[in-house]
Amino acid sequence: MDHFLYRDGMLHAEDVPVAEIAAAVGTPFYVYSTATLTRHFRLFDEGLGDMPHLVCYAMKANSNQAILRTLAKLGAGMDVVSGGEYRRARAAGVPGERIVFSGVGKTREEMRLALEGGIRQFNVESEPEMAALSDVAQSMGMVAPVTVRVNPDVDAKTHEKIATGKKENKFGIPISRAKEVYAHAAALPGVRVVGIDVHIGSQLTDLAPFREAYGLVADLVRVLRAEGHQIDRLDLGGGLGIPYERSNAAPPLPTEYCDVIRETVGDLGCEIEIEPGRLIAGNAGLLVSRVIFVKSGEGRDFLILDAAMNDLIRPAMYGAWHDIVPVVEPAAGAETHPFDVVGPVCESGDTFAKARALPPVSAGDLVAFRSAGAYGAVMASEYNTRPLIPEVLVHGDQFAVIRARPTFDEIINRDTIPEWL
Ligand code: LLP
Repeated sequence: MDHFLYRDGMLHAEDVPVAEIAAAVGTPFYVYSTATLTRHFRLFDEGLGDMPHLVCYAMKANSNQAILRTLAKLGAGMDVVSGGEYRRARAAGVPGERIVFSGVGKTREEMRLALEGGIRQFNVESEPEMAALSDVAQSMGMVAPVTVRVNPDVDAKTHEKIATGKKENKFGIPISRAKEVYAHAAALPGVRVVGIDVHIGSQLTDLAPFREAYGLVADLVRVLRAEGHQIDRLDLGGGLGIPYERSNAAPPLPTEYCDVIRETVGDLGCEIEIEPGRLIAGNAGLLVSRVIFVKSGEGRDFLILDAAMNDLIRPAMYGAWHDIVPVVEPAAGAETHPFDVVGPVCESGDTFAKARALPPVSAGDLVAFRSAGAYGAVMASEYNTRPLIPEVLVHGDQFAVIRARPTFDEIINRDTIPEWL
């Protein structure tokens, strides 16, 4: 459920008409709902209920500081994957002890930054990383808290570009080698093992792979404890999928996902961390765009929008589906017509949807892409010198621009022309 509904024939973001925001900030833009973000965070927080836990929002999904602050105020921690994300989380007011640091390629500078600023744990993905972290921490007179990310070789049954838990993926260490790697970690002076980490992929629409992976992690907890390691925390990653296509069967609910956690690892006395990103932010955001032209082609009609692949790359990159709806509610029973929905960028990949059945739309109309709050704005670029589009946060009947559209001068003045030119 989200808070983008038609009211009096107009699409609203909570209590604000989307058209009103368009008039204020121009198109295209992203708009997010505080109520939806809050609701989604709480589904996990309450779903984990009585188990000691921390929901560490995977801020790669949407890292605007207003979003981070909204979630942090509810008690969220953050999962960061770069020094930049770490700085952004801290700037938004998230304390270091609520930040976990994931990623296969942390640099020594990034390790230092997090150790200096405070960190809950590093999720270490390889032995060279473990050795480097131990070195860095030792040189600072510190001991870094670590988990090892294990790769359970489980098929997440998701898009190949976002599956991470198979042995051919670059992530984690093979679970079969975990004993060895934990023994190695225990011998290093600059790290202290606190738990185990796993993340098998994103946009999972079936709980079975989670159940399988978490079951393997539970077995590993017992093995490692028997070896004398202190395993107090389990970071179970993110990955629960969202309903992108409303006409399809809905994926499992966060409460059902939390039940899988309880059933597989709930009796181990570990503190549970999870790293959901998409489920918290995805359906909390719309991309709103204006139709520039309706163009008739041979055997097809094109809807040419002012948003493009540089603003929302998911359809071009993963063949992803986003529901597209007009901002003015279509009349009940309005006939639909198939459109290829495209942007102005000069490549055919700049296609949001092919032969999409849409109610009547004309040049000048506003349309909204649903489920665009995660992996939308954060993956945007300025390709074709198209400015990054504004982001707006709605809270009840209020809205605020939380990232302004840059001016063309700002964009152009970022380049430097060498003096020999
Ligand atoms: N934790 C780790 C270690 C991750 O790598 C990810 C996502 C998450 C948590 C959050 O997963 P989520 O709950 O959002 O599924 N750009 C792609 C998605 C990439 C996901 C990368 N890792 C897309 O637009 O579908």
